[in-house]
Amino acid sequence: QKTGLILGIESSCDETAASVVRAGHEPLSNIVASQIALHANYGGVVPELASREHLRNIVPVVRAAMAQANVTFADLDAIAVTQGPGLAGALLVGILYAKALAFGSGKPLIAINHLEGHIHAVLMESQLRGEAPIPLPLLALVVSGGHTHLYLARHGTAEAAWHYRNVGRTVDDAAGEAYDKVAKLLGLGYPGGPWIDALAPHGNPRAVPFQFNAIKGTRYRDGKPAPNKKAPPPQPGPRFDFSFSGIKSAVLRYVQTKNMREAADLRQQALAALPNPRPEDALALMDTQTLDLIASFQHAVVGILIRQTLSAAECLGAQGIVVSGGVAANRELRARFQKEAAAKGLPIAFPSMAMSTDNAAMIAAAAWPKLLAEDFASDDLGATPQLKL
Ligand code: KG4
Ligand code: ZN
Repeated sequence: QKTGLILGIESSCDETAASVVRAGHEPLSNIVASQIALHANYGGVVPELASREHLRNIVPVVRAAMAQANVTFADLDAIAVTQGPGLAGALLVGILYAKALAFGSGKPLIAINHLEGHIHAVLMESQLRGEAPIPLPLLALVVSGGHTHLYLARHGTAEAAWHYRNVGRTVDDAAGEAYDKVAKLLGLGYPGGPWIDALAPHGNPRAVPFQFNAIKGTRYRDGKPAPNKKAPPPQPGPRFDFSFSGIKSAVLRYVQTKNMREAADLRQQALAALPNPRPEDALALMDTQTLDLIASFQHAVVGILIRQTLSAAECLGAQGIVVSGGVAANRELRARFQKEAAAKGLPIAFPSMAMSTDNAAMIAAAAWPKLLAEDFASDDLGATPQLKL
């Protein structure tokens, strides 16, 4: 007798998270212990510190998720955990604990790809709101600090099972990474996305004409072919890849040419002196030139993301679009994407703020079709830092 209850566990990067979800779409609890404050001092995630924090947090976080959902391990149908991609040490904490729980409770273990989780976060919320399902095949843009991926997603042979085809990825930096690096360069806080998001509306997006195109098929960087060690060989079929290192370098050159470095350093020091610096605090420290640069950078990045996604959707016959990952929280991205997708008659869905960043409800939601298909992990499940979807 199935209860439909799945405990999800996520520890791939800098959040320790656990959640109980019923039938793939009804979260009964969603606990996230974020390490942002810890890593902010270093301007990025420090893997060793992340693993240590996960170890400290995993037991109380899972306990809290079970308590909030008011369920016992005997009530669960399965335990789902992120297998990858992510930081090896961080992933291992969640996997080892999930395996121990599965073994102890006699429940099956389900391994989830983190990117699949991000896609299901959106599908889960859309179902929860009672909306019509996004028609298939759908095109999913997963855009975060570690990923900028496009997947064409549909049901596989079994109705419940999903099938994903990667049709695009960044050949260098992830979009969120570009946000973080540009924010750091301008003396803003970490992670940079929310800062640039909040400050961009105060600048003129046409002040600095960044001429960067989303790249299609071939891999170009600043006009030259760029052999890329990070990206695996692409799957056959048309490609809709991205590149963000060119625009990042262009921002750096602009800052150097216009002698904006000193102001950025002063801004960084002023913000560091505040107990809990927020984007509103930075506004008082901004000059027009920097605000214009921020607005122009965001305008260009958002333009690349939208253009490439819509041309992939058109070319591949996608019937709807799902946007997810940390950058999906961006207000300009949401507003422009909504408008442009509507103009093409494509339904589009975004996650709520809580579901756009890493959480475990999305892991439990992605596990539901696998539970129905009895697609369980073996006892020797290990962390797969470079896991592909
Ligand atoms: O999905 P996520 O929480 O973690 C992973 O990277 O997997 O995404 C974090 C990324 C960071 O790069 C952050 O700067 C970016 O998402 N981000 C944003 C916004 N909020 C977070 N980027 C643009 N606009 C935002 N509002
Ligand atoms: Zn993520």
